[in-house]
Amino acid sequence: MKPELQRRVQRYGWNKAAEYYNASWQAQLKPAQDRLMDMAELKPGERVIETACGTGLVTFRIAKAVEPDGEVLATDISEDMVEYAKSAANELRIHNATFQRMDAEQLKLDANGFDAAVCGLGLMYVPDPLESLKEMHRVLKPGGRGAVAIWGERKNCGWADIFPIVDKRVASDVCPMFFQQGTGGTLENSLKEAGFKNIDVDRFKVKLHFKNPEHVVMAAFSGGPVALAYDKFDEETRDEAHREYLDSIALFRNGSGYQIPGEFVVARAISRD
Ligand SMILES: C[S@@+](CC[C@H](N)C(=O)[O-])C[C@H]1O[C@@H](n2cnc3c(N)ncnc32)[C@H](O)[C@@H]1O
Repeated sequence: MKPELQRRVQRYGWNKAAEYYNASWQAQLKPAQDRLMDMAELKPGERVIETACGTGLVTFRIAKAVEPDGEVLATDISEDMVEYAKSAANELRIHNATFQRMDAEQLKLDANGFDAAVCGLGLMYVPDPLESLKEMHRVLKPGGRGAVAIWGERKNCGWADIFPIVDKRVASDVCPMFFQQGTGGTLENSLKEAGFKNIDVDRFKVKLHFKNPEHVVMAAFSGGPVALAYDKFDEETRDEAHREYLDSIALFRNGSGYQIPGEFVVARAISRD
């Protein structure tokens, strides 16, 4: 898929996913976000850039960690995600977070401006993850810290058939490189190539809990990256795709719900001396 098309699929797909995202994914992503926050080791007073902030689940934790004098600039390619996060921040009375629509591969920011750069579960969606890591590196001050969380290997993520199931109905790859960075030593190599040093990588397995078939279907089709393609399906195609996805995860049925295996990789690194 051409990079420009991938950016559009992500931007408009995540616009559609914004209102479903927290209900579908907040609990499932918490272990990765907890580890990301631990590894980022943020301190009061620090200035932080976050890429692919989504609804702000990580943003609000960053804001808390750097208060009272620190601040976070949270960015995302989807305007609806940015708006969602901005209004949630207002409701939560978070005053040290600002939000801007920005492509993670092209940060419209000067070099050397931030103490830390954080990206939670965003790197799977950008056309060129290395470029995105280079951008995080560029905007960090010397000695600044990068922290990144991604999904792990395809074989360890029991829900992975969602991509081929949707792809074959739209004749394109919705998320062509989703598992690339999470496989083997790829993320560590990419961080090195982006200029980072002292890289520390943690890989761990989790179980994703969904309370019933409706919940698991909503998370897969409406709350994530395939939302744009799914929106164009007619009712018959939707029913057929739902059935196929439920078959693909049948092994993980647990009572009336599902416990699906997943894997995360979380890394931190230092920009430069
Ligand atoms: C799974 S969500 C992660 C949101 C949040 N960081 C979290 O941990 O809950 C992925 C986010 O990546 C964003 N995204 C996809 N492609 C992007 C790009 N090229 N630049 C910036 N954000 C992008 C999407 O809009 C979406 O909000």
